[in-house]
Amino acid sequence: MALIPAKPDGRPTVNIGMLGYGFMGKAHSNAFKTMPYIFWPDAARPRLKAIAGRTEDKVAEAATRYGFETYSTDWHDLLADPDIQVFDNVGPDPEHFGPTMAAIKAGKHVVCEKPLALSAQEATQLHHAAVEANVKHLTCFNYRFVPAVRLAYEMISNGELGEIYTSSFRYAQEWRTDPDATLPTPAGALSVIGCHAIDQARLLVGDIAAVSAVLSNPVSSADRGEPVDAVTSIAEFHGGATGTISATLIAPGRRNRLSWEINGSKGSICWDLENLNVLRVYRRGGTTSEGFAEVIVCEADHPLVGPWWPSGHVLGWEHSHINMLADFVRAVAEDSPLTRTAATFADGAKAALVADAITESAVKGVRTAVPELPGTSTGS
Ligand SMILES: NC(=O)c1ccc[n+]([C@@H]2O[C@H](COP(=O)([O-])OP(=O)(O)OC[C@H]3O[C@@H](n4cnc5c(N)ncnc54)[C@H](O)[C@@H]3O)[C@@H](O)[C@H]2O)c1
Repeated sequence: MALIPAKPDGRPTVNIGMLGYGFMGKAHSNAFKTMPYIFWPDAARPRLKAIAGRTEDKVAEAATRYGFETYSTDWHDLLADPDIQVFDNVGPDPEHFGPTMAAIKAGKHVVCEKPLALSAQEATQLHHAAVEANVKHLTCFNYRFVPAVRLAYEMISNGELGEIYTSSFRYAQEWRTDPDATLPTPAGALSVIGCHAIDQARLLVGDIAAVSAVLSNPVSSADRGEPVDAVTSIAEFHGGATGTISATLIAPGRRNRLSWEINGSKGSICWDLENLNVLRVYRRGGTTSEGFAEVIVCEADHPLVGPWWPSGHVLGWEHSHINMLADFVRAVAEDSPLTRTAATFADGAKAALVADAITESAVKGVRTAVPELPGTSTGS
């Protein structure tokens, strides 16, 4: 029998324009290219229409390598193309506000890497603009899309931990420890990684009413850029729980350790990114052998796992981006809301409000209330 040509994938496309082609450009391109066959048969598939960057030979190479049809050295070209539906901003932090705001004004659906903007004021403006323009909007807090994190969210929502009493959230890396090392970014611990810890706290425990914080800079000096090596804060949640939220870039041996522990009246759970498939669960049961159990969150009946591999075939960091961006593409294709646990620009702005309050608390040496995002109510 002769070989039979396969049918082409006839699903409609969601056309992507991407700004930036570095680490996150690679991660997002990988996600867009992987999702069409993993999430089968979804309503649509992403089409990598155009990529923009500043340097022509590099952006041309990125277009070929990642599979984009076209490229430009001017991101405005992405907005001028009526075929492009989604503007995906994976540029550096200072380039988040301007291009993303311009994309919203051009009527594009918008994806923006974290932190959403350099200040809560700018992040709030982006949130309001996206809502007003009625475009879909996603802040890339990708750890919300790790199956173990989603299972934790469901357990807490279902009341399995009872009343949440205390919690701790910490993101630790080590690359700023050496005073002579070349820094990949001058930005401080709060914006580089702390925003993920804030977001996990908001997702799992709830909105934060007030913070008390200290910043410390035992390694940095002014010529190394924004001098924040580590931040430690106490958080008071609106629901009554308390917690700590911290971020450090000077933790030797901690390569990429986002971690948390949540303690409630019925039990405790903990998780860390360096062992991301495992949720550690303790249920108060009164038996002599009780203790923490390790749940490998890779079963078909676990959240977010179904489309992936058979039982116990573990997932990696990149799957959080694939799950997150597939949810966004689905929402664009079906004109439906993002999944309830996705981080919208409201979540990006709320994380920025907490980050600004942490900075203010540390600088002034006082407990600082976290303002509500205008136009939303606490806990929304
Ligand atoms: N969610 C996550 O897991 C995660 C992880 C790392 C970084 N990030 C965030 O993603 C974003 C990108 O980080 P990255 O690690 O990919 O950085 P990167 O330096 O690897 O890539 C940045 C890209 O933006 C381009 N660029 C730089 N300045 C520009 C300008 N003025 N105009 C247009 N393009 C410009 C660079 O050429 C490069 O292609 C940052 O906001 C960062 O905070 C998120």
